[in-house]
Amino acid sequence: MLQAHRPSIGNEELEEVKKVFETGWLGMGSQVLEFENMMKDYLGACNVVAVNTGTTALHIALDAYGIGPGDEVITPSLTFCAGIQSIIALNATPVFCEIDPDTLNIDITDMEKRITSKTKAIMPVHYCGYACDMDKLLDIAGRNKIVVIEDAAHAFGSSYKGRKIGSIGDATCFSFDPIKNITCGEGGAIAVSDDVIAEKIRKKRVLGISKDSWQRQENTQSWFYEVVTPGYRYHMSNINAAIGIVQLRKIQKFIDRRRFIVEKYNAAFRNLNHVKMFNWDLSEMAPFMYILRVTGGRRDEMMNFLASKGVASGVHYIPNHIQPLFKDYAPELAVTEMIWKEIVTLPLFYDMTDEDVTLVIRSVTEFCNK
Ligand SMILES: Cc1ncc(COP(=O)(O)O)c(C=O)c1O
Repeated sequence: MLQAHRPSIGNEELEEVKKVFETGWLGMGSQVLEFENMMKDYLGACNVVAVNTGTTALHIALDAYGIGPGDEVITPSLTFCAGIQSIIALNATPVFCEIDPDTLNIDITDMEKRITSKTKAIMPVHYCGYACDMDKLLDIAGRNKIVVIEDAAHAFGSSYKGRKIGSIGDATCFSFDPIKNITCGEGGAIAVSDDVIAEKIRKKRVLGISKDSWQRQENTQSWFYEVVTPGYRYHMSNINAAIGIVQLRKIQKFIDRRRFIVEKYNAAFRNLNHVKMFNWDLSEMAPFMYILRVTGGRRDEMMNFLASKGVASGVHYIPNHIQPLFKDYAPELAVTEMIWKEIVTLPLFYDMTDEDVTLVIRSVTEFCNK
């Protein structure tokens, strides 16, 4: 079966991990620092703080901005549940909004209608790596004194108007889980413009301790520490950072190959019946997933057909407002409810061969011509 996602990892990553083993310092230390500095340069960000998952990146960012009980955070329902769980974990209230059916990104007009005096944050998602309209989002947020915490789990390497996602807004959260544009095995990071917030996040990721053990090692009393703020054990380890360092060196070739595959898919599917493509401009997009809309209620039928041809596919995502845990926050979201039943995610990863791409195209085409 051709998988839908797969990391591209090998001997170079293993060699870098081996170096960590040789130092014996497996936790947070010099590799994490090096990975953060590499990300900072690559993104053009003011500060980058590495953590252990994309989910903890979102949680700690919301926390650092003081989001808590009674606060509302507006976010699309059509996204992974990680962002919503982060909001709930702080006893804040998720306010679900619509998506733009042409891009799957946040519907900014609908979002603006849902702003109230309790709205403290907006959490847009750069779906599949396609950047949201950041000018509009930041303008509305600025006028309403709301912080924008971008869920950029899909968008490491993407840009908006010539600037990398991670260098534009208040706080941008990345994921480096096994299938993302680059992976650390598991990992995440927050790019933050405000130095004070960045420092807060640094402390919060190590249980609110003022200096982590790597920073303390040169002190005469390296055992001494102070707990200065509520926090979590969310730091990245050197082992994960070592993988990320090697992956980040390869990012451009990863993006080029993913774009090449997406272009092939677009050319093949453009004139097919029963499917619709999304309106994503590839020039600034580091494509994470390739999603098609299957019309006529035939999405599941297509997925079964693809499986019979040896092609795995997925659905990203089941809307959160119809999940049992979040039903108390469910508004009516007609566009989201229509779109999610039509979307199918096709295989897209760096190591796909040209034969794999041909197999996907042939199988989708055969289904549509049936
Ligand atoms: C949109 C989105 N946000 C957040 C996350 C959470 O990232 P992680 O898996 O690293 O916790 C994911 C992961 O798939 C995601 O797709």
